[in-house]
Amino acid sequence: MPALSNFDAENITFGVKRIEKTNILAIESSCDDTSAAVMSDGKILSNVVATQDIHKEYGGVVPELASRAHMENILPVVDVAIQKAKIPLEELSAIALTRGPGLLGSLIVGTGFAKGLALSLDIPLIEVNHMEAHVLAHFIEEPKPEFPFLCLTVSGGHTQIVLVKSALDLRVVGTTRDDAAGETFDKAGKMMGLAYPAGPMIDKLANEGNPVFKFPIPSVEGLDFSFSGLKTAILYFLRDRQAEDSNFLNTHLNDICSSIQTTIVHILIEKLKKAAKEYDINNVAIAGGVSANSGLRNGLIETADELDWNTFIPKFEYCTDNAAMIAMSGYLKYLDGQFAPHTIKPMARFPMAHI
Ligand code: KG4
Ligand code: ZN
Repeated sequence: MPALSNFDAENITFGVKRIEKTNILAIESSCDDTSAAVMSDGKILSNVVATQDIHKEYGGVVPELASRAHMENILPVVDVAIQKAKIPLEELSAIALTRGPGLLGSLIVGTGFAKGLALSLDIPLIEVNHMEAHVLAHFIEEPKPEFPFLCLTVSGGHTQIVLVKSALDLRVVGTTRDDAAGETFDKAGKMMGLAYPAGPMIDKLANEGNPVFKFPIPSVEGLDFSFSGLKTAILYFLRDRQAEDSNFLNTHLNDICSSIQTTIVHILIEKLKKAAKEYDINNVAIAGGVSANSGLRNGLIETADELDWNTFIPKFEYCTDNAAMIAMSGYLKYLDGQFAPHTIKPMARFPMAHI
């Protein structure tokens, strides 16, 4: 028996069995952020994100440059995450990695690194779907949503409504047929000369303007979305107004941003309302980079008041791409015994289950 002064109450159950902590290292490299996080028994100890500024000058993510930057960043990012968490590598239980969806070259860097480290430490790998992880980011901190809930996941590459029956049963009930909401923000921003990614800047400028310009709302059946028509409408609107007045953009930028944001938010909230009605659910969450948008957040809060919804919006750092959400998903799969073989390959297209 250890002397009482050395007794580690947290790790010993009356001398019968030593409870080991489940320490997950998570690696995310699906797009242009290299991220690593460490989670211990469901609690985040570190979450390090290296953003790649190189894409700004190209007005969008350049896949080849993203892969190269991941190669440069991955070791230091993982190293800092491990140091911050103060968990030695030998105490890791498993490594969770983003298998997809995403840019193949970017995914290969994260997957290859995770495989090599897992082999050297002789620990299992856990594959995570990036889009599921955006939803499961809600379980990192309180308040956690109650099941079943609906989650609107809106990012640069995806726009979907997910029915979450349990942490391991997530089904897409609506998705975009063309562009994603974040992509629409970014492309509209590019047309207006704003730097990539333009979503946060449009959000900022929109708060200084009013939605005086009207754009067409697409009519898409069911719970699916479409944004390509809106994108084209914005392009023609800017072209025609600029032809009439070459100073139009400069003098009306805030109102244009407010009008674009209001239209996108309206499309998203209307579909969410429809889904909530169809599935008779009043627990509603938002996730993904676009959930940082102030118009969407306010729209959700207003709708929640009107329809008596319980709403869930994760902290900003867990909305945009991060490895903490990969760790959360990985931890839940670890508890369920879902491990991946070391021969695992990344998947650029990695669809979630549909209803
Ligand atoms: O989830 P995320 O970080 O990466 C992807 O998986 O795509 O989402 C990035 C997207 C970009 O399109 C970016 O413009 C958008 O989220 N975004 C925003 C805001 N913050 C980030 N869009 C509108 N308003 C914001 N405040
Ligand atoms: Zn994402």
